Amino acid sequence: MTFNYAHANFLKRYEKSLIEKAIDERAKAFSPISGSQVGAAVLVYDGKIFGGSNVEFARSQNIHAEWIAASDALKYTTAKLNLSARNLKVKMRKGLEEIVAIAIVNEAGIPSCGSCRQMLYEINLNMRVLGVLPNGEFKVRATLRQLYPNAYRSNDGLKI
Ligand code: THU
Ligand code: ZN
Repeated sequence: MTFNYAHANFLKRYEKSLIEKAIDERAKAFSPISGSQVGAAVLVYDGKIFGGSNVEFARSQNIHAEWIAASDALKYTTAKLNLSARNLKVKMRKGLEEIVAIAIVNEAGIPSCGSCRQMLYEINLNMRVLGVLPNGEFKVRATLRQLYPNAYRSNDGLKI
């Protein structure tokens, strides 16, 4: 299947739902320690959207919203591929490519920490990233490649 993930019209069509989902997810954040609420929503090539919010356990232990949204999206894209276990690497690569955009909502509209940017870059360096304020206003619109230049890409060494 060939699909122009980066197509502006595709993102435009889903942008509003993506942001609404990220705002809804932010309301579900569990952040008793920092008080900082983060919501994320990931868009898959077929229009499906997966959300996540941050969860805190201890001062040094928390789950970033982006990880939850991205991992649910990847489980969905790879399950659909219906490839055998022998093709796990192919499955992973194809599954990753199908993740096309992410919206992140937090109090400053900052699109993710460095660690999340690394994770998202490994998924798809052409991924569209929207950094959004809680009122839905845009702060940042970029691709991962723009947001995270000269990044290390560990998958480049994979023989798949
Ligand atoms: N947080 C995220 O969910 N994503 C990021 O990329 C930045 C930080 C969360 C983790 C923690 O619960 C809170 O925001 C404050 O750092
Ligand atoms: Zn992060």
